[in-house]
This record gives sequence, structure tokens and C-alpha cells, in this order.
Amino acid sequence: MCGIVGYIGTSEGRDILIDGLRKLEYRGYDSAGIAMLGEDSKLQIVRCKGKLSGLEGKLAEAPVSGSLGIAHTRWATHGRPCEANAHPHRSGPFALVHNGIIENYALLKEELESNGHRFSSQTDTEVIVALLDHEWQQVKDYRQAVRNTLKKLKGSFAVVIVNELEPDQLVAAKKESPLILGITENAFLLASDVPAILPYTRKVIYLNDEEIVFISRSGFQLESLPDGSPRTAFPHWVDWNPIMAEKAGYKHFMLKEIYEQPRAVIDTFRSVIDLESREIHFAELNLDRNLLRQIDKVCLVACGTSYHAAMVAKYMIEALCRVPVEVDLASEFRSRNPVLNERVLLVVISQSGETADTRAALKEGLDKGAQCRAIVNVVGSSIARMAQGVIYTHAGPEIGVASTKAFTTQLIALYLLAAYWASETGKLTREQTAQMIQDLIELPSKMEKILSDTDKINGWARKYMGFKDFLYLARGTLYPIALEGALKLKEISYIHAEGYAAGEMKHGPIALIDTEMPVMVLIKHGPLFEKMLSNIQEVKARDGIVLALIEGETSDAIGEAGNQFGMPVTSDWLAPVLFSLPLQLFAYQVAVLRGTDVDQPRNLAKSVTVE
Ligand code: G6P
Repeated sequence: MCGIVGYIGTSEGRDILIDGLRKLEYRGYDSAGIAMLGEDSKLQIVRCKGKLSGLEGKLAEAPVSGSLGIAHTRWATHGRPCEANAHPHRSGPFALVHNGIIENYALLKEELESNGHRFSSQTDTEVIVALLDHEWQQVKDYRQAVRNTLKKLKGSFAVVIVNELEPDQLVAAKKESPLILGITENAFLLASDVPAILPYTRKVIYLNDEEIVFISRSGFQLESLPDGSPRTAFPHWVDWNPIMAEKAGYKHFMLKEIYEQPRAVIDTFRSVIDLESREIHFAELNLDRNLLRQIDKVCLVACGTSYHAAMVAKYMIEALCRVPVEVDLASEFRSRNPVLNERVLLVVISQSGETADTRAALKEGLDKGAQCRAIVNVVGSSIARMAQGVIYTHAGPEIGVASTKAFTTQLIALYLLAAYWASETGKLTREQTAQMIQDLIELPSKMEKILSDTDKINGWARKYMGFKDFLYLARGTLYPIALEGALKLKEISYIHAEGYAAGEMKHGPIALIDTEMPVMVLIKHGPLFEKMLSNIQEVKARDGIVLALIEGETSDAIGEAGNQFGMPVTSDWLAPVLFSLPLQLFAYQVAVLRGTDVDQPRNLAKSVTVE
């Protein structure tokens, strides 16, 4: 939550900072702001409530300029969205942008107020810059004042600071919130996430927790916050390119990302499958068959859409690997004192690799000695670096706040993990593993087919966009997809939608069914087919509207063919990937028709880096 950017170089930095904010707007869009040091070394600060476009409008009238600056796009935590609460915040010669939450801000604020400081915002961030100003007045040494200030903060932060008195220097530091340093020939960039710097460089240093970096135009010095000792950093090459973070002609990032899924799925499985031998090798997972044999429980932990991927994986891992699996929301897991030891495999799942609760859950696992692995999309993210092994999804940058391609590639990574585990421990024969791989290879063309046949889904969106409530029902591996379909609709169209295990319908939701409640059912052939048909009859008997995604041909037992969408046939384990696609398209079309902001839905942020 919140995106921050910093620039120090030899060129004009304003457009680079604004462009960086545009790439980070997915992290929050309650307000935006920029601070630059011009040739006279005076701070020029412009801030605006609302989206970046508002700030751009203001800058057109009151331009700022310089070769050093900071910028921010906000997701409000402390203090409502308004200009006074927008970053950068200033005190004396200092201006600062911040991502994170300062937990002891109230206490610090009280102390500063008793020393005569007057605050102009309700934010925790203003406390940091006020404290820095105060510390500087005590020690008259900028670096020391920064160290003293940051050591007094409790909570999480990524900060970038400019100082009128030392106008050739940017200072940045991080603890728990993400921050990267991009290196170009003649400039340094700081950002919360890679897409902000991709047009300028792919050479990146991922700052570690409790590190400070002092950056001049000619170089940088990294040091440890707790003891001031110098740190060495090794640059990484990011293998994303700038075009991947553009809309490429699509109306929205979400639509582009929906259509990228067949490619993303291929990239994810191609990175670990040897197509000749039909074997699975995870280069960075660090989980061999000896270790797998010792595992007697799996904990899958995640938030939001990633949690739904974990729910699907429970079915796969238990069925194929015959080991018990617990699935938890990260926020609950971290607070319930879970039973963990070296025989437990904790797998956290996160697109961003930065979600605060997921990160905390991983830390809990590491502290308790569990085997901790992660499934992550963003290389170099905090979770990827903390875990003892990683499977990377190869979705590429996901910008739309509602997750699509990250989700389906997580499903693929988990499918591969289950197949690998079962084959390494002798639960699957070579032939069975080869069949699972064959099913996977055939999947992208089935995904293409769904994505090229959208008329019916678009028609449903037109017909049902005005309804106020939706119910999504499914069983087995499709049950989490019902939850995910409902979440997608809620997130971007603001229509109330609930996903339910169809077997639970009679325990509550059936009371809601009437002519005003469309019910989306996900139905696949196999042992659960007849039970789903019964649920459909129960909905129809109460005049509910049934919209069915049905594997194979449409069925008279369900009702009129116009309300049924035929899905390509695949295994139970891969059906969740296929069934996700029409639900994403439906949510997208409804949102477009209702005129909501699809890529940046209200109140949401893509990366929830605060608790
Ligand atoms: C936010 C996003 C969701 C995402 C969730 C978990 O709520 O809007 O799309 O699923 O965070 O994020 P993660 O990066 O950990 O997968």
C-alpha cells in the first residue's frame, strides 16, 4: 500500500517520478504528491487529493523541476484522503515519503508537540519528518539525525528523504515495507516495486530490512541501521521488460492480464518441466525427496485471491500426496499460535511477495522451525528472500488490482508441486506423472478457446449487471473458484456476491433465493455432478436464476441453453484454472458496464503491505 519513488541523477527528474507513480498507482490512489529540489536547492512540493491525474493537472499550472526528488501515491491508513494528509510531508529543510505504519506515532507526536511542534496532518508519516527535524536540531549532523530518527520508530517503513541543506543527496531506508534501488549509467532510482523503474534500468538492488542507503550522484553507501556497519549489496538483473508493464492496446490492465493467462501458464510450467523426460525440477525450491518423506503436515497460508489458490491446493495435495493439509488466512494463522515444527511444511503464497500478514506468517514459521517455502510472482520480493525455497510464478507484472493471471499461475505452481511431491515419494507412477504433465500441456489451448468465445458471457453481463446480489455455488476443487468468482465481482463491480460450497446451500443461503438473485453454478462431470444438478433444481424450484458454467455439452436438466456456458474438459485438478476465466470475464464486463474503475477499484490496493 502506497507507492514511493525517488530520483537522483543528472537529468530532469520530474517526468521520471510521475511516470514511476503511474506504474505504482495500483498500490493506492487516495492522493499523490511530489517534492523536488531545484537549482536553488529549495523544496518545491505539490500534492493533490485523489488520483495521479489530479496531481498532473496541478503540475501543469505550477511546474516543479530538478534532478533530485521524491514522489508518492497514497493508500490512506492514518488520516482520511485529503491534500493535507498527502505525502511528501515536510518539516524544516526535510521532506519525506513513506510507505508503512508507524505504530508508536501517537507517543512520538505527543513528545514533539510538547516540544512545540505543530502538525498539519493526521498522518503517522508527518511524525517521522518532524522527528528528523527535531533530531537534526540536536545533533546538527544529517546522517546521524536520520539514524536516530529511524531507530525510534516502531512498525514498518520504507522512506525516502530529501534535505534542502544537503541537496546532492537522497536518503532511503526500509523495515518490512518494500524498497528497491535501480542503478542506471547516470542516475539512481528508488521505488516500491520494479515496474516504476523498468523503463530506465533492469539493474536492481533489493534493500534489506533495517538498511539505510545514502545516495549521491556518483554512488551510494549502504549501512545497517542497528549498528551503522557498512553493508555490501549485489545488483540483480530483473527479467521483466518495460512493455510487459504497459496496456498494449487493451482498455484495461485487467483485460490484458486475463488474455495473457495462456502465455503466463506456459511460462510457469516451462520453467520447471523437462518436456523430453516429462520430469519436474524446481531449481530454487530446495525440497528433495528425503525432506518430503519427513513432512507430516502441510500449512498453506495466504491472503485474498492467493488464499483461494491455497484452498484448491488442499484438495490436490491431500489426494495426490496423502499428507494432511491445513489452509489458513495469513492474518488468522499468525495470531492463532499454530502448531509448527521441523516436520511441517509451511508454504506461503503471494503474488507481490510483500503482503504484511503473509510475511508475518512466514516469519512465524521460520521462528518455529518449520520448513518454509513460498510461491511468489515478484522475484526479489521480501517473501521470496525470507523463504527457504521458492517457486516463482511467471505471470509477469500484474498491475490490475483484481488478481487474474497471478492466480491461475499460482494454481499451476501448486499443481506442479503436488505432482512433484507425489512422484518423488512414489505415490504417482511415472506414467501418471507424465499424464498430469500432458494435461497441463493441453491446458493453454483450452484457455484460448474460452477467451475467444466471450459473446455469451458478455450477454450475461449485459442482462444481469443491474442485480444487487449474486450467489456462486460449486463443489470440490471448484468450490474455491466459486469464492474467487464472487470476490472478483465484489472487488471491481461493487455488487454483493457470495461464494458457497453447494452442499452448504441448504444451511442458509437458500433462504435468499428468489427472482432477484442470480446463482452462478460451476459444474463438472464426475462424482459431484448429480449433487450439483440437485442444487440447481433447488434453486429453480425457488424461482432463482441459474447461470451455469458446465463442463462439456449443455444439459436440459439445467434449463435453457442460453444460460449455460460449455467448458472444455480437463482433470479435476486443472478445472479450477479453466473455470476461473469466464468468471473473470464476467466480473470485468459487469464492471465496465457499470462504469467502475476496473483497474483501481475504490478502497482497494494491490499490495497490502500494512496489517
Ligand atoms: C490484495 C489484492 C489481491 C491479492 C491479495 C493478496 O487484496 O488486491 O488481489 O490477492 O492482496 O496479495 P498477494 O500479493 O499476497 O498475493
